[in-house]
Amino acid sequence: MAVVQDRPEGSERNGPSRDPSSELSARRVTIEPWGVEVGPLAHLADERARLGQLRFDHFAVRQQGATIGAVVEGLDLCDPLEDGAVAELRTALHEFKVLFFRDQPLTPAQHVAFARRFGELEVHPFIPANPDQPELVRFEKEATVGGYENGWHSDVSWRARPSLGAVLHAVEIPPVGGDTLFADMCAAYDGLPPDLRDRIDGLVAVHDYSKVFGHMVEERDRVAMRERHPPVEHPVVRTHPETGRKLLYVNRFFVDHIVGMDRAESDALVDRLARAAETVEYQCRFRWEADSVAFWDNRSVQHYASSDYWPQRRVMERASIVGERPA
Ligand code: SIN
Repeated sequence: MAVVQDRPEGSERNGPSRDPSSELSARRVTIEPWGVEVGPLAHLADERARLGQLRFDHFAVRQQGATIGAVVEGLDLCDPLEDGAVAELRTALHEFKVLFFRDQPLTPAQHVAFARRFGELEVHPFIPANPDQPELVRFEKEATVGGYENGWHSDVSWRARPSLGAVLHAVEIPPVGGDTLFADMCAAYDGLPPDLRDRIDGLVAVHDYSKVFGHMVEERDRVAMRERHPPVEHPVVRTHPETGRKLLYVNRFFVDHIVGMDRAESDALVDRLARAAETVEYQCRFRWEADSVAFWDNRSVQHYASSDYWPQRRVMERASIVGERPA
C-alpha cells in the first residue's frame, strides 16, 4: 500500500511560512513508493493574485491559468494598432506570458504586420512557409502529415538569438482536439527545491536543431546548414530581460547536453529539469477556434501542441519575432 510522507514545500518564495495558520493546508506530501508529490503549489498564490489585479486602458484581460495566460478582448488585430495599445500588449505579454485573441480573421499580410510591431521577424530554415509570406511558417497537418509538435519546447532555442515571441493564427481547426498547452517556466524555476536551484546556478546547456530537424536536411546541404546553425550554448537558468525573473531554459527537443557533465549525469539532469514543464499547475490550455490567435513570450513559456486530431486537418501559421542572446 502507498505510504504518504510529509514533505516541506519545495519553494521558499511564497511558501507556507507566510501565514503560520496555513502551514498544514499548504504542505506538499509524497506518495511512496512512487515519489508522486501532491498538495498545493503555494508559491503560485501571490503571483496569481497580482496578475488578477492588472488592468489595461486599451483592452480587457481574462486570466486563464494561475500564473500564465490571458484572453485579450477589445482589439481588432486586422487593423493597425495605435502605439499605446502595442505598448500595453507588450506589458501584458511579459506579465501573462501568453495572450489569446478570438475572432481575428487575419490575412497573411495582416498577420505579419501585427507581429512586426514587436520586432524583426525571422525566417525558419526547416519548416515550410506560407507561399506569399516567408516569415510565416505553416503547420499544415492532415492524414499524410502528422503533428510532431506534441513535446514541451521553446521555439528555435538552437539559434544564438532564439525568438522572443511567436504569433500563431488558427487557419483551419479540426472539429475536436488540437489544443495547445503552455507552461510558465518562471513558476517552474521557482518551484524547484532550493538545493536543485543551487546546483543548476551557472550551468550552461548546448542546444542543437539536429534531433528534431536534422532529418529534413538533404545530404548535400548538411555541411552548409551546420555552418549556418552550429550548436549554441545558453544558460540553464535564464533571466528574463524585461521582468528580471529567473526561468528554466531547458527543453528536450533541442538541448543536447549540459557543458562539463558526462552523458549520464547530463541526460538525467536535463530530463529532471524539462519535466518541470509537465506540472499542470504551471500550465494553461487553449482550445482553438478558427481565427483564434495566441501570442506567447517564447523566453518564459514552453508549449506543446496536442496531436490528438489525426487524421483530421489542422492548419496554423506562425510568425516569430527575433529575440536577444539569452543571459
Ligand atoms: C509550435 O510548436 O509552434 C506549433 C504550435 C501549435 O501548432 O499549436
